[in-house]
Amino acid sequence: MYFCSVGKIVSVQKAVEILKNGGLVAIPTETVYGLAANALNEDAVQNIFKSKGRPSNNPLILHFYQWEDAVSFVGKVPDDFYKLYAYFSPGPLTYLLPKSSLVSEKISAKNTTVAIRFPQHPIAQELLKNIDFPLAAPSANPSGYISPTQSFHVIQQLGDKIDGVVEGGECTKGIESTIVGWDEWGNVLVYRSGTITAKEISEVLQKDVKVVTGEHKKIVAPGMLSKHYSPKKPTYITANVNQKIHHFSEKKIGIIWQIKPDVTMFDNCINLSFSENGDLKTIAKNLYSTMYQMDNLDVDIILIEKCLEGDLGLAIADRLSRAGINLDI
Ligand code: TXA
Ligand code: MG
Repeated sequence: MYFCSVGKIVSVQKAVEILKNGGLVAIPTETVYGLAANALNEDAVQNIFKSKGRPSNNPLILHFYQWEDAVSFVGKVPDDFYKLYAYFSPGPLTYLLPKSSLVSEKISAKNTTVAIRFPQHPIAQELLKNIDFPLAAPSANPSGYISPTQSFHVIQQLGDKIDGVVEGGECTKGIESTIVGWDEWGNVLVYRSGTITAKEISEVLQKDVKVVTGEHKKIVAPGMLSKHYSPKKPTYITANVNQKIHHFSEKKIGIIWQIKPDVTMFDNCINLSFSENGDLKTIAKNLYSTMYQMDNLDVDIILIEKCLEGDLGLAIADRLSRAGINLDI
């Protein structure tokens, strides 16, 4: 499984060369691996959409090393932005800001805003320091599938469609960045929950922050499309695995627990867990890789135990709700 990976791995130096020539390279970030291209090269950007099978109305995030590099790509920014940038960037926070004319319609999907992010992963930073254009980079998964947090996920899913992958180890955060933006009255909105929570943003800004994930019908951030991040096997989510398991008695069942059970009465099933002790950061880090692992085991269906929804739990619950069918409603 890992063996065929080797041919696709490229150095940072090689990745810079490929990107300058309009190619596609998957790069590690602290959240998930991104599928990167020169954001100023229309053909390269078009290839991102093509290789992911991504609908053209789903805009891309621009990645920069630092604010000085990003400033010409945005219009007027709210004062809040500078406070958040100083506190959280580089890191897993994406800002939705008014765009400048340098941002193509393909990138913004004809929105008047552009999403920008300053990743923290040292390899992403080294790459960004060595180029003089922004990187457009969605998560490096086929559209709708689980996001990749290890290089072999990318190679197995998209290897034949891209020019290389930079090895960066396992992503430490494990879920996509938090997306923050402002409405026309200056209210702060969180469009996608991530490891930086609305509560933390609110504390830094000393004002209320509204979480609007899943609220809008219109595509504001299609990371919020209801079916997203899902395994290929039929997947079900429940707070009560013990009860709901009987629905699937004829099937080979893979169970993913939040916390590793000491003993399980389901030893005729395949049992995996997101964490040893329920630590939310660990659960986030392992969320996609555990689903990925289970999806590739010999099971007919996947049953996932739901988590609590406070703070970071909200981001995890959000991803789980998009991964499968909720059996509890
Ligand atoms: O952690 C991350 O953000 C990763 C790494 C690679 O940086 N990237 C990522 O990209 O998750 P992607 O394309 O998988 O998700 C970006 C989300 C999408 O839901 C997209 O709709 C939203 O950001 N988005 C991007 N630009 C936008 C815009 N101008 N207006 C509204 N939503 C936007
Ligand atoms: Mg994505």
